Amino acid sequence: MEIITGITSMQNRTRELRAAGRRIGFIPTMGYLHEGHLSLVREARGRADVIIMSIFVNPAQFGPGEDFERYPRDMERDKILAEAAGTDIIFAPSAEEMYPRGFLTTVSVDRITRVMCGKSRPGHFDGVTTVCMKLFQIVRPHIAVFGRKDYQQSLVIRTMVKDLDLDLEIITAPIVREADGLAMSSRNKYLSADERERALRLSASLREAEAAIRRGERRGEAVVAAIRKRIEGHGVTIDYIAVSDPLTLEPVAVIGDHVLIAVAVYVGKTRLIDNLLIETNPGE
Ligand code: PAF
Repeated sequence: MEIITGITSMQNRTRELRAAGRRIGFIPTMGYLHEGHLSLVREARGRADVIIMSIFVNPAQFGPGEDFERYPRDMERDKILAEAAGTDIIFAPSAEEMYPRGFLTTVSVDRITRVMCGKSRPGHFDGVTTVCMKLFQIVRPHIAVFGRKDYQQSLVIRTMVKDLDLDLEIITAPIVREADGLAMSSRNKYLSADERERALRLSASLREAEAAIRRGERRGEAVVAAIRKRIEGHGVTIDYIAVSDPLTLEPVAVIGDHVLIAVAVYVGKTRLIDNLLIETNPGE
């Protein structure tokens, strides 16, 4: 497995690969890899010849007071896991390489970035779209794979790719969960044993909401209220609960054929997100 840190070196390598007719699959990450990331590598392996993973903790997507400094990092462990999962090249630039003095550009997607995580983390998605746009220009992949745990992120990236006519296919891969239902996240590392136990309320509340919808519940507000009742309290603070249209992210009063249920909470100081996409009439 190759490790590349310079933008020009990465661009030269990509140019060679493309000239040789190789199809490039790309997994953008912030490192501290877990099974969720590795599932994205496997997803890409089935669709591309060469797998490039970026590992870059992007300062531009963290707000003041967020966990940029303490975000977990372990490059040596990441290299072993990435290689074992089938990564061919890691692109791991420094912050100075990505954002040199004089950097002035922001790529911004409107409207769908103002709700849910975008409302609680102003500027976060501008940081994500700007870094992804740069990474796409540097790596020039044919496909890029994102995890559905960050549903809103995936939708924002898809919108940017479509609006800016990027010649790139975005794949969204399923959420990978621990055996007890907790969605995998690098931030799970922050949780104490007690907090981890409490964090299980997230996935449990989503499963219960799905069961209620399958039994016929169609009132968006009733679903929100049931989730709130299930997860609030005992050290868990709700950031948002959204019962929304999966394409516009607007709240739905009456649940139709497709609905996104998304939650963000603080367990102690750790912010966790989870979601479920429900088709109410599968097969119709
Ligand atoms: O999902 C992430 O890890 C990050 O938001 C991404 C897409 C790598 C951009 O920094």
